[in-house]
Amino acid sequence: MATVNTSGGRTPLIAGNWKMNLDHLQAVAFVQKLHWTLKDAKHEDGSVEVAIFPPFTDLRTVQTLLDADKIPFGLGAQDVSTKDSGAYTGEISGAFLSKLDCRYVIIGHSERREYHAESDDVVAAKVKAALAHGLVPVICVGETADDLEKHGASAVPVAQLKAALQHVPASADVVVAYEPVWAIGSGQAATAEQAQEVCATLRQAIATELDDEAAARTRVLYGGSVKAANIAGFMRQPDVDGALVGGASLLVDEFSSIIRYQKHVGV
Ligand code: PGA
Repeated sequence: MATVNTSGGRTPLIAGNWKMNLDHLQAVAFVQKLHWTLKDAKHEDGSVEVAIFPPFTDLRTVQTLLDADKIPFGLGAQDVSTKDSGAYTGEISGAFLSKLDCRYVIIGHSERREYHAESDDVVAAKVKAALAHGLVPVICVGETADDLEKHGASAVPVAQLKAALQHVPASADVVVAYEPVWAIGSGQAATAEQAQEVCATLRQAIATELDDEAAARTRVLYGGSVKAANIAGFMRQPDVDGALVGGASLLVDEFSSIIRYQKHVGV
């Protein structure tokens, strides 16, 4: 896929996190419709990478569809086990995800941190497991409203990112997603300027933890109430390389409009 020379040469990534929505039959209809919509709009020129993150039970079906219809979307899972195999009921190994042609896996989403008590160490172990199986971890970090009030916007995301990168070599391919917890699903997105400030600080943390080359190469996304009406503002920021989209990624017209942000006025 061709790359576009924006944001320091990093190809923008628009990622759709379906969370626990769409069964495997609904997934087929959705992916086909999204593909046709983008094709009709003559979008699929490779200037923006699209990735979708369906539930585990949809992955095989979606993989088969993407392959059969040559649909150029990256496939990702929403979580991965720290373990490779064995007596871990309910867990999914990175080895299984690689076999399904998953390229990405979301790690450390705030919903996992909150509802499954995932600590920074568990997140770091999952990042290590993902890399060991050739997957690109999409490492999610972000502050709660309480953190924001007490520590400002960057402190918690930077600490979470440093912890997540503890076993990561500088050469590794990772994606970072800055997702303020207060913005997720709330309809109240961060401003483009707030997102830029934290994403730039996170890039600086990558330089410190890994190296300058890794900081220049790594895509840093914004997530939290991204929609067609606000995506262009985020994408205008030099350190925002894409978006991790939840609710709006389940609506074909809205998500395709987000993907086509370059067509929006003023971009
Ligand atoms: P949202 O979710 O777009 O629905 O706010 C984003 C996310 O949780 O990744």
